Amino acid sequence: MSSFIEKDLFPLSTELRPDGSITIAGSSLKKLAKDFGSPLYLYDSETIRANIQKLKNAFSTFYPGNFAIAYASKAYLSRKFAEKIAKQDIELDVVSMAELLIALKAGFSPKQIHFHGNNKTTEEIQKAIDCNIHALVIDNMDELLYAEKIAASKNKCVKIWLRITPDIHVKTHPHIETSAAESKFGFHVTTGEAKAGIQYALKSHFFELTGLHCHLGSQIFDPLPYRITIQMLYDLASECGYVPSELSPGGGWGVPYSTEDPVADPNDWIEHISSAVIEQCRQKQMPLPKIVIEPGRWLVAKAGISIYQIGSQKSTPNGLRIIAVNGGMSDNPRNALYQAKYTAVINGKIASNEVFPSRIVGKFCESGDTLIDQVYLPEAERDDLLIIPVSGAYQLSMASNYNLAPRPAVLWLESGGIYELLQYRENPEESSWWA
Ligand code: LLP
Repeated sequence: MSSFIEKDLFPLSTELRPDGSITIAGSSLKKLAKDFGSPLYLYDSETIRANIQKLKNAFSTFYPGNFAIAYASKAYLSRKFAEKIAKQDIELDVVSMAELLIALKAGFSPKQIHFHGNNKTTEEIQKAIDCNIHALVIDNMDELLYAEKIAASKNKCVKIWLRITPDIHVKTHPHIETSAAESKFGFHVTTGEAKAGIQYALKSHFFELTGLHCHLGSQIFDPLPYRITIQMLYDLASECGYVPSELSPGGGWGVPYSTEDPVADPNDWIEHISSAVIEQCRQKQMPLPKIVIEPGRWLVAKAGISIYQIGSQKSTPNGLRIIAVNGGMSDNPRNALYQAKYTAVINGKIASNEVFPSRIVGKFCESGDTLIDQVYLPEAERDDLLIIPVSGAYQLSMASNYNLAPRPAVLWLESGGIYELLQYRENPEESSWWA
């Protein structure tokens, strides 16, 4: 445990009791699992607030112009969670009607919301235009022409950004890389579409092109591709005689999931983004834009933990120790999709010295239903609680009802043992498949 704490994997308010059990924000995990059942997901408010503040401080240190932190809500969103973060003076990136509706309901002003997506529906484009959101982020030429028709039918001038794809590779899992020539996202630079898109948008009466955007991918630990991209965006703008008032280098800054992962300081990210923008503006004699970053994972991953109950255990003929828990790929498909590596501890047995290599599997009817390929754990018993840190991003938001599994409950934790239900556990007897 101490090495996990050193490596910064658990929420800030985590405490280890003398009996080897864990509390977060003063709440006992054992008690919460007893009261709310498991699998159970928890978010530590202190960690989220501290993360937001850290990014704001970094901009205040490195960038003399305006900036905004826009939370990429696809990492995790529910109405109450949106209400909590709406109070933190941040903006929001949404990609669907439901995310937009929740954001508005939770108190985000449309002026704080921008809408992404490579294939927005007619209803989504109409709603975004009707609400006068901060920016509709246009993904491609086809969408540019279609959105223009909708804007024209409403006789409105819509604030847009264009999503540009630089056609470069970044070091991450191929499924979460969005910057390469084969990406389905954005106006590609090398085909000339990016330039054509900017020129078209600038001439249209129905668009105000307020900014350029690029999202390179996720789990990126190196600031260099961001610098290269910012230069590319400014070269493009300058070729088109365009001066962006906003510039969004996306999200994607990486977080460690286990002690083997690199730890990358987000100050480096913000410093590099800021200095690249400042340098380009000086060279091209343009005013500093408002920089809008879109972190999802970096803001919420470490704030979240998942709790499972241990069930069956076995050893395979080749000596592999398998521990099965009462959740799995339905609440966390990240190992199945990206071979994501996690770590885990057993509540109450954290101080144990004797540990064995173990594979953590779920309860679902699929061989790929693995949560952790290998983690060293002490002897475990049925009903022990397995705690997986860094569970706050892209787990619940990608959860499914495979095998008709109900999605888990989610709690928001405030210091002093205060908690609030963000999402109730789905009821298997009242779900849509009973229609
Ligand atoms: N901006 C845009 C336009 C995005 O598409 C994304 C993520 C973000 C920002 C936030 O990226 P982040 O800071 O969270 O890395 N399901 C995958 C991750 C998919 C990311 C999709 N887009 C996973 O579990 O790793």
